[in-house]
Amino acid sequence: MSTVNLDSAIPEHLRKDRTTPIKLSPNFVPPYASYASRFPESVKEIVMAIIGVQYCTPTYSSDTAVSKITKFLNTAPESMRPTFWEPAAVTDPTGAYNAAVIAYWPSAGKYEQWGEKSGFKSWWDGLDVKSEPHGWFLEVFTPTVDRWETVISAQDIKEGSSHMRDGISGDIKEHGYWGSMRDRLPIAQVDDLDGEKAESEKSEKGPDPLNARIRIPGKKNLAVIRSGQDWSGTSPEERKLYLETMHPVLIKGMEFLRDNPEIGCYSCRFMDVVDAETGKPDKERTFGLAYFNELASLEKWSKSHKTHLDIFGGFLKYAKKLGPDMTLKLWHEVLVLEPDQQYFEYIGCHGKTGMLGSL
Ligand code: HEM
Repeated sequence: MSTVNLDSAIPEHLRKDRTTPIKLSPNFVPPYASYASRFPESVKEIVMAIIGVQYCTPTYSSDTAVSKITKFLNTAPESMRPTFWEPAAVTDPTGAYNAAVIAYWPSAGKYEQWGEKSGFKSWWDGLDVKSEPHGWFLEVFTPTVDRWETVISAQDIKEGSSHMRDGISGDIKEHGYWGSMRDRLPIAQVDDLDGEKAESEKSEKGPDPLNARIRIPGKKNLAVIRSGQDWSGTSPEERKLYLETMHPVLIKGMEFLRDNPEIGCYSCRFMDVVDAETGKPDKERTFGLAYFNELASLEKWSKSHKTHLDIFGGFLKYAKKLGPDMTLKLWHEVLVLEPDQQYFEYIGCHGKTGMLGSL
């Protein structure tokens, strides 16, 4: 096969004459297949909202706070409801249990309408930190579609924003080499996507976030990745291989990103998808959700840090061993945002929650 026969991750209507160099070498052919979701041309922007609650102690009890959020999602007029949402959770290093709903809309207007008509916005604006028994957080991204890319390891994978797609690419050429994520991002055809440098000095101490409502302004070209794995459909042999070889190195990588902000990572949560009925973590579907000061910092970690190289190297051996029998599902979505495409607000959360860590 040559690259001539391969599809581009960038849909035709978003292709532009490049002013930035492509990283793909002319004769490179990826060693395995990957695909990108195609969204309807009418979709001009994608909304991803993370609406969460934070308890100081770990809890899997019947979570009334999460049901409060899901009620807003489910009872709004149908045309304004998110296309897709799912609950997820993580216990962070302070021991706090963070449960969130991740929801997707096919336009910022629909998200705004939902907020108004469901009553969510007025409820959220009225929350008083002094009378809430736990913390709340809201992180919303509204990038234009040229600032969003997806890659999936099989065409039938529907995760996150892929629930909004109306098609799927053929085998894409822009994957399997470092720099391919950037080559898949339509905006990167004409923009270097430089962000703000990670600050070494912390700004002046503000109010105690546990007793405050804090809004964080957006940052230039913040890069967000949601990168997931689903091994629920694997055979007992493949599951054992995944759990013994991939899972441990993945945890190490996610802990490294979480604990080393100096590399440009403001926040990394390694989350379990949660069963919406029982509220219990589904231990066979996880994802990393991380916020970086710029795309270059995310690229640098994935290409050169031992923790992702171990994940990457482990995967190559894994894929070689299983060949076409591999049923592990891998996917990711990456967005790079303008400041006004980000909204962060934290009510009574500890200082390491999400973008509070950037203060
Ligand atoms: C790229 C494996 C988890 C960040 C890749 C690639 C592989 C890989 C094989 C090259 C993909 C291609 O272009 O064809 C894995 C496996 C994972 C995993 C097996 C989990 C089991 C993660 C996580 C993150 C991450 C959790 C970050 C939160 C990246 C990035 C790239 C990448 C940013 C793109 C680098 C570039 O194109 O320059 N990974 N990965 N990966 N991975 Fe991972």
